[in-house]
Amino acid sequence: MIEELLKIKQDALERLAAAQSEAELQALQQDVFGKGGQLTSILRTMGQLTAEKRAAIGAAVNETKQELEKHMNEARARYKKKAQELRFLREELDITEPADFALPKGALHPMTQTYRTIRDALVGMGFSMFGGPEIELDDNNFTLLNLPLDHPARDMQDTFFVNEKVVLRTHTSPCEIRALQTLKPPFRLVMPGRVFRVDEVDASHSPVFMQMEGFVVDRNLNIANLKGTLDAFVHAVFGDDVKTRLRPSYFPFTEPSAELDISCTICGGKGCRVCKGTGWIEILGCGITNPHELQNCGLDPKEWTGIAFGLGVDRMTSLKYGISDVRYEYENDARFLKQF
Ligand code: DAH
Repeated sequence: MIEELLKIKQDALERLAAAQSEAELQALQQDVFGKGGQLTSILRTMGQLTAEKRAAIGAAVNETKQELEKHMNEARARYKKKAQELRFLREELDITEPADFALPKGALHPMTQTYRTIRDALVGMGFSMFGGPEIELDDNNFTLLNLPLDHPARDMQDTFFVNEKVVLRTHTSPCEIRALQTLKPPFRLVMPGRVFRVDEVDASHSPVFMQMEGFVVDRNLNIANLKGTLDAFVHAVFGDDVKTRLRPSYFPFTEPSAELDISCTICGGKGCRVCKGTGWIEILGCGITNPHELQNCGLDPKEWTGIAFGLGVDRMTSLKYGISDVRYEYENDARFLKQF
């Protein structure tokens, strides 16, 4: 009987060593300790033994039982630990794992696209980026640009006053003053940025919009330099077929001043609703820098000349893409932006 016990123990330990799961462990437990189990059967037969043998066998059975239980508990603890490790492994968050869905692709805002096209054309011609603050001195925004306090042209650019001397700039032209005061000519500059005016919001007005200023100071600049520069980036934005013309105008900081018109991008110049039947669309203001502006900044107008232009990036964008309402360009509605 002792031998039988030893064999039971041996078999059980072998099965235990091979077992991989809680289920196998339970089956083993059933086979050894269960109702019809091997150890249980031995205990059942003990009634027939002598008291002496019964005591010896009883002790041996208990010992076997304890030993097997100890091993089983150890195995159980091992499975538990392994299962936990597996779970941790499964639940580990790998933030470097590629997503299994396509991320929606973004695109540049149409105004940014227009701005970059113009900028790149100018940079290609040797222009550098320059800029100024959105909150600007009244002097830079108006007075030094030849718009003294009582000048009627100030009314066209009513603005938000921070105090008597400081305004939200109404155009990017004050960057010209900053350039003249800080850089040594000759220079070619492109100066983009946000500008502000007291305007009611409608299809063609926004109290905040984006402008871009071009400014070149050198010796002997003339209208041909201006026209050539304008044509280069207008063709980059609208294509080579578009025609341009200068139409006399007035700005206090240029003399002579002009508006640049392009042949209508909708009808090609035949005349339609957008160009009001004229075949031409006005796109920017420009001119030869007024000698007063150069003088105001300490430059000798007999030695130095300037060409300048200022355009609304939003307006150029509307014309390029046929956008009928400038508000679309500022509302950032994804349904609108997705089209570009
Ligand atoms: N600053 C003008 C405006 O906001 C635009 C402009 C016109 C800029 C003529 C210029 C220029 O540099 O020469 O309406």
